[in-house]
Amino acid sequence: NDYDLLVVGSANADLVIGVERRPAAGETVLGSDLAVHPGGKGANQAVAAARLGARTALLARVGDDAYGRLLLDSQRAAGVDTVGVLVGGAPTGVALITVDPSGDNSIVVSPGANGRLTPEDVRAAGSLFHASRVVSTQLEIPLETVVEVVRSLAPGSRFVLNPSPPRPLPQEVLAACDPLIVNEHEAKVILGGAAAVGDTPEDWARILLAKGPRSVVVTLGARGALVASAEGVSRVPSVTVRAVDTTGAGDAFTAALAFRLGTGESLAEAAAYAARVGAAAVTKEGAQESFPTSEEVAAL
Ligand code: RIB
Ligand code: NA
Repeated sequence: NDYDLLVVGSANADLVIGVERRPAAGETVLGSDLAVHPGGKGANQAVAAARLGARTALLARVGDDAYGRLLLDSQRAAGVDTVGVLVGGAPTGVALITVDPSGDNSIVVSPGANGRLTPEDVRAAGSLFHASRVVSTQLEIPLETVVEVVRSLAPGSRFVLNPSPPRPLPQEVLAACDPLIVNEHEAKVILGGAAAVGDTPEDWARILLAKGPRSVVVTLGARGALVASAEGVSRVPSVTVRAVDTTGAGDAFTAALAFRLGTGESLAEAAAYAARVGAAAVTKEGAQESFPTSEEVAAL
């Protein structure tokens, strides 16, 4: 394989303001100076994997504008192959992000060019799929594009999905996931009516698995994660760190997991490594700039 990981997904300019608290409807609050960071769940995954040493390619669409160039520069600086990054059709995606003193964020995304990444774009990138061991994606691109990704997988390659932002998924997509990676909020949306009051994360993992994925990972933030497959459900320990900015930590987790699964690690081993990568990412501001190298993970 030429690539350990092909990421198909979004690229956004993250416009970030630190706030003491978020405004209610009709209210104005004053925040910090504006920071502009390269982000987007797909672009974040690609940078995270490349920084860990994965040979990585990104299939995405950005606008022919300054934010698009910021995103391409960030990919190239991390060593990501950008041959699959298409330019034009709409302005680059933008994420308006507030970060509060506990490091938690709220995000509004304008998909822009991400919304114009079409099934046809996926078909035209067939050679990337054939050259990749693992393919990962998220839901900041059209769902029909995600369906085409699943149909384009080369025999023997592995598909990893973080359904963020979450919505109900077609059976064809669920069945291809190995694993489906969800946090608690995403689990509830994907489960819809199947989630009952009083269900534990272990229950969610089992019910999600019964919906078709070959494996499931439920991330629990500071409480670690759960992995579930035909072999059963097990816990992955958390790594305690001081949170500065959680933006992109889930993307770093997914990328690390996808990369390490492709090297032959078990789901539990790869998730334990990914938890360390995610923890390192929350200790620094921004998304892509906060992702660790493999040396930094080892030192954690
Ligand atoms: O997962 C974090 C990302 O979500 C941010 O970088 C922002 O662009 C949004 O897509
Ligand atoms: Na961060």
